[in-house]
Amino acid sequence: MTGPRIVLVGPMGVGKSTVGELLAARLGTTFRDTDADIVAAEGREISEIFVDDGEPHFRALERAAVARALAGHDGVLALGGGAVLDADTRRLLTGLPVAYLSMEVAEAVRRTGLDAARPLLAVVNPRQQWKRLMEERRHLYTGVARVVVATDGRTPEEVADGVLDAL
Ligand code: S3P
Repeated sequence: MTGPRIVLVGPMGVGKSTVGELLAARLGTTFRDTDADIVAAEGREISEIFVDDGEPHFRALERAAVARALAGHDGVLALGGGAVLDADTRRLLTGLPVAYLSMEVAEAVRRTGLDAARPLLAVVNPRQQWKRLMEERRHLYTGVARVVVATDGRTPEEVADGVLDAL
């Protein structure tokens, strides 16, 4: 086992799974997603794990899932958007071909329809929450990544091209 050909990191909604599937098809390999691994292993949705057991427990499951996937997969691997928050998880990525798929808040709003949420009902304003998360995480993504591929205004096919060109 030689380790993954490409590892994708970046915020939720940036298209890691869509681009990852495309990259795997182009490289003639398989795609794996640590969120899906966790759901399969736990037999419950990620939202349930967060609600039932809290984020720290989820991050511990995620750390183990990333370690297993890195050791057992030689195709394209996508990590959950918050995986880089964990220092041990970041260390596991040292020296690997990691691509950070980035996007600006305007693109996040366009893609995920954050503005369609009802701002007065939301506990936190989604746009503000997005900015807060990215202020906390941007340097973690760039810290683990060999390359950064901006996705704003680009189709998944164009992003996949960008990843292959850059790595
Ligand atoms: C999270 C992103 C999600 C999932 C969980 C937490 C995050 O993954 O792991 O809901 O903290 O950004 P995706 O990036 O695949 O949506």
